[in-house]
Amino acid sequence: MCGIIAFTGSLDVIPILLEGLRRLEYRGYDSAGVATVDETGIHLRKRSGRITELARALDDEPLTGVCGISHTRWATHGPATEWNAHPHLDEAADFAVVHNGVIENHLQLRQQLEDDGVVFRSDTDTEVLTHLVAKLWSGNLVEAVTRATELVRGTYGVAVICRHEPGTIVGARLGSPLVIGIGPAGHSIASDPGALANHAEKIVYLADRQICQITPEGWTVWTRDAVTVDCRMHDLRQVVDTIDDDLNGFPHHMLKEIYEQPEALTNAMRGRLDEADATAHFGGLNLDPRQLRGVERIIMTACGTSYHAGLVGEYLFEELARIPVEVEYASELRYRNPPVDRNTITLAITQSGETADTLAALRESKRMGHTTLAICNVVGSSIAREADGGVYLHAGTEVGVASTKAFTSQVCVLAMLAVYFGRTRHLSALQGARLIDELQALPDAVREALRCHDVVKQVAQRHAHARNILYLGRQYLYPVALEGALKLKEISYIHAEGYPAAEMKHGPIALVDEETPSVFLVPRGQVFDKVMSNMQEIKARRGPVIAIASPADREVARVADDVIPIPDVPEWLQPIVAAIPLQLLAYEISLLRGCDVDKPRNLAKSVTVE
Ligand code: AGP
Repeated sequence: MCGIIAFTGSLDVIPILLEGLRRLEYRGYDSAGVATVDETGIHLRKRSGRITELARALDDEPLTGVCGISHTRWATHGPATEWNAHPHLDEAADFAVVHNGVIENHLQLRQQLEDDGVVFRSDTDTEVLTHLVAKLWSGNLVEAVTRATELVRGTYGVAVICRHEPGTIVGARLGSPLVIGIGPAGHSIASDPGALANHAEKIVYLADRQICQITPEGWTVWTRDAVTVDCRMHDLRQVVDTIDDDLNGFPHHMLKEIYEQPEALTNAMRGRLDEADATAHFGGLNLDPRQLRGVERIIMTACGTSYHAGLVGEYLFEELARIPVEVEYASELRYRNPPVDRNTITLAITQSGETADTLAALRESKRMGHTTLAICNVVGSSIAREADGGVYLHAGTEVGVASTKAFTSQVCVLAMLAVYFGRTRHLSALQGARLIDELQALPDAVREALRCHDVVKQVAQRHAHARNILYLGRQYLYPVALEGALKLKEISYIHAEGYPAAEMKHGPIALVDEETPSVFLVPRGQVFDKVMSNMQEIKARRGPVIAIASPADREVARVADDVIPIPDVPEWLQPIVAAIPLQLLAYEISLLRGCDVDKPRNLAKSVTVE
């Protein structure tokens, strides 16, 4: 989603800003802009479309300077045009603002400003902030930004420059991440530490309602009441230990990340499987044994793919730990008021750790006094820092907008957690030992599953023209059906739906015809025969069937039109292995349809607005 990078120091600022914007590019955006400031004033370049357009504009009309702010915008208020792109200027072009988040009372503020004679030049909510800062400025930028942010309702991460104080950048945060970068040649502000990788060594996270000022010489952080905050510095390399822009020979990040899954799973399990005690261990859960045993219910909350991982978690926890689980969309949970008893914990699942709805749901649970845990990939992200305890995925940076390795790593962590909770309850040492063995074999099984790629390519050729595709599975594989459909929708723009296979006959079967393929998840397991019957029902209506099944399964081969083979693994780990062909199928179909695999239309990697 929107990205901010700002720098002031002794280096030419434009290459730093462009490099930072490129590092944020994978998050999704539809326009970009920069503004520099010096004694002569503020200088602006903006373009709709990709950063390459902005770079071209800067080649045609170069900007120089050592202090500037920049932004990638993901349109919320107003279309993705040049006039709506950030930075936004006040009428006198004395101030420039870049903003992430949403100002909810922008219409009222806009009306008040227009009544005062201010002429707006964009449709954005951000522009009100620019005019407010200009109006409230009386010689001190920090004060003006502080007072302006007090008037807005909603969320913001902002960086502001002013022609009267060239060399100074002021930042402020409420609900939208912001970090300060500290480097040998200057200071920076960014929405993501990853954007600072080429020039900062240390970083400082801003907390909500904090204001900061950076100059070439130093940085300061204040509360809204102007009290100086003593902030902790973090080593950037430790936080962003996996900055990895290299495609390593793969044509797309998504494909690279699909192939990274055996290693990602190994990393997720590293040091966490305890053969001696036949259990798993986690360093950061921060639950003592009494609290652990006292947990009577878990609410898992997440969005998108992470929500699907939570649904698998529900089956895992119920079977292995015998703990009731509810999985809630974070966007729903945050506004619900469910009766929740004392011994319920909330578990947020998130790759980025910045998803606005998941963060809000976590905060609401915390406010109600519940213990909150997080499963998260991005170290130091807002959710990772705000949860009472948690588990990192260690999957490495996920750049592709379509989440792949984060999903399988999330399910793997949930499986380990279920074993851990189960071992404090009814799982015997022998049962625990068997489960640990099965987990250890998982990376090899995923390696083997990746061998289906050639078959997937052929299947993709046959179905890339489809207008609707159904994904069907039962029990552990029902959430994987949902995930397969989401992957396809996201990157190929084909309409797809996931269903529990038996639900078909209650309505969706009306969609089935010769043109509507169904992808069946049908490896051997307790409900194999039931799923086979559901498959027959589709075949009887001339629906093409693609089966994800054991390579040796003749029974499946007799019914299905195509079989994509996956290795046999125990049922509780099938979601991880069965996800692989679905990710590859979405990828191959997307390629055949000429879509932008890593940057699908309308989507953002990290959804930081409500
Ligand atoms: C996955 O492919 C998506 N792009 C999306 O659904 C994502 O999983 C969702 O936005 C949640 O993100 P998070 O895991 O970073 O919280």
